[in-house]
Amino acid sequence: DWTMAAFKDEAIAKIREQVGEGRVICGLSGGVDSSVAAVLLHEAIGDRLTCVFVDTGLMRLNEAEEVVTLFRDHYNIPLVHADEGERFLSALDGIDDPEAKRKTIGKLFIDVFEARAKEAGGADFLAQGTLYPDVIESVSFDGGPSVTIKSHHNVGGLPARMKMKLVEPLRELFKDEVRALGRELGLPESFVGRHPFPGPGLAIRIPGAVSKERADILRKADAIYIEEIRKAGLYDTIWQAFAVLLPVRTVGVMGDERTYDHVLALRAVTSVDGMTADYFPFDHDFLGRVATRIINEVRGVNRVVYDVTSKPPGTIEWE
Ligand code: XMP
Repeated sequence: DWTMAAFKDEAIAKIREQVGEGRVICGLSGGVDSSVAAVLLHEAIGDRLTCVFVDTGLMRLNEAEEVVTLFRDHYNIPLVHADEGERFLSALDGIDDPEAKRKTIGKLFIDVFEARAKEAGGADFLAQGTLYPDVIESVSFDGGPSVTIKSHHNVGGLPARMKMKLVEPLRELFKDEVRALGRELGLPESFVGRHPFPGPGLAIRIPGAVSKERADILRKADAIYIEEIRKAGLYDTIWQAFAVLLPVRTVGVMGDERTYDHVLALRAVTSVDGMTADYFPFDHDFLGRVATRIINEVRGVNRVVYDVTSKPPGTIEWE
């Protein structure tokens, strides 16, 4: 795509002009936006870029390893892997309110990020994968009181606190353009085409109290669901699909044993920008196949349900 090739060259020139001989710190989440920003910055300024990957222990199955392997081993980008799963889980201990979870994770994330960035020698600039829709959404058009549906987890406030200037190379782009730029930069399709994943991670897909045990159950079930979606050739048609582990246990029967285990909800939506969404109309054979696999393969789940709520009135995530 020659347009993206031209955009890429222009973006690299702009980064070099802004940063000069300075150093840049970039938060890497493994999501499309921060991944594309990191690779673009690395092309522009090489090893004056350091990436910090805060591993909250609330990522999807194998996700942390994939991020570290790709950026450190494949791209040779200096990468700090802040493996802080236990700290996040203990901070979340006993918290079941969705907003309290989001705020706890957001605050700890900033603390960890700041400490690790300092350890890595600090920087003059903080890079963020802010997109055009993020820029728009933070503006209030009518000046009236705005309602916070969910506190979004991002690193807002960090640049001022760390006395750094912001670099936002994706500020003019929409999601599909970021994906095109990622392909132009040679990022693997498994990263470029990946469904969005929220900053607070699996914590907001476990209504009620979060624990390592629950996160492990959810990770396994989610991986099976996504694998079946890929096998059915539906991954790219769906905007986002994931499993939610409910804090409800129900009675079941396995062999001739009574079971009393968790309910798992499956969610899949189509959307253009995440602002509105329709639930995805899977055929029943597909849903039955996924349910059977999950119940047979994941200990702790004995019932699977499908969420048929669109947005509005439902949000995409459950919390
Ligand atoms: P909702 O659940 O509000 O989500 O319909 C819309 C889109 O935003 C994602 N999402 C987040 N992304 N930090 C993020 O980076 C967050 O705190 C967050 N909360 C929700 C959600 O996955 C969906 O794609």
